[in-house]
Amino acid sequence: MRMTAMPAPARPAVPQHLAIVMDGNGRWAQQRRRPRVVGHRAGARAVNLTIDFCLQRGIGALTLFAFSSENWGRPEEEVGALMKLFLNALEREVDELHRRGVRVRFIGERERFVDPIRARMATAEAQTAGNGRLHLNIAASYGGRQDIAAAARALAREAAAGRLDPERIDQAAVAAHVALADLPPPDLFIRTGGDCRISNFLLWQLAYTELWFTETLWPDVDAGLLQRALDDYAGRERRFGLTSAQIAAMETPA
Ligand code: FPP
Repeated sequence: MRMTAMPAPARPAVPQHLAIVMDGNGRWAQQRRRPRVVGHRAGARAVNLTIDFCLQRGIGALTLFAFSSENWGRPEEEVGALMKLFLNALEREVDELHRRGVRVRFIGERERFVDPIRARMATAEAQTAGNGRLHLNIAASYGGRQDIAAAARALAREAAAGRLDPERIDQAAVAAHVALADLPPPDLFIRTGGDCRISNFLLWQLAYTELWFTETLWPDVDAGLLQRALDDYAGRERRFGLTSAQIAAMETPA
């Protein structure tokens, strides 16, 4: 996997890094007159299916928006149910993910979670740290603006300590301090559930990402839908601010 944080003009058939906003669990449950948590449980099954899909297609990194910084404001009962679901999923799935070569990491404000979840996150990360077949990044209590603010704080601390000249703070310096700095930025962003917005996910990292939206609710996602997104991606021309002619010249062997 390319390990730079900056995009390179290219038209790879398969995205190296897929980022997903998994929206629509609540509506899926409501349509069935069931409590919202039933939708989240069905959503967890779609997560497993998506991991299988990425492993089969050779996608190297998958970043899932599981819980935003703003989601703490949901009704207490729903937050509690989601926490239980996360804990159960961590207890149940990590051995199998490890066996399949998946590296699990969490991004976001970890200190906001209760101790048992934090401990499970740390164990999952330590157990799978040596894997590289698929980087599975779970954004939990994550916000893109918070991510950028944290990077600014880290750079400011370095500058205040005299280790960094403020004039040298450039894109590469910020990119090195935001979440997932060691991975290429997402090539493809998928959002289910019908809304066409980014909702404070990976704001810095999505600058040149191809966006794909679908009305399908997250629990209804299947391999066919994920493949449709990949097919659409494969037909796009990524220009990174250049012209079509320039991209064509770069892609033609000398
Ligand atoms: C958004 O749907 C979804 C969430 C806030 C939670 C996502 C969680 C999962 C998919 C469960 C398991 C995840 C892992 C990583 C084990 P929504 O509730 O906002 O749906 P709505 O827009 O229909 O109300």
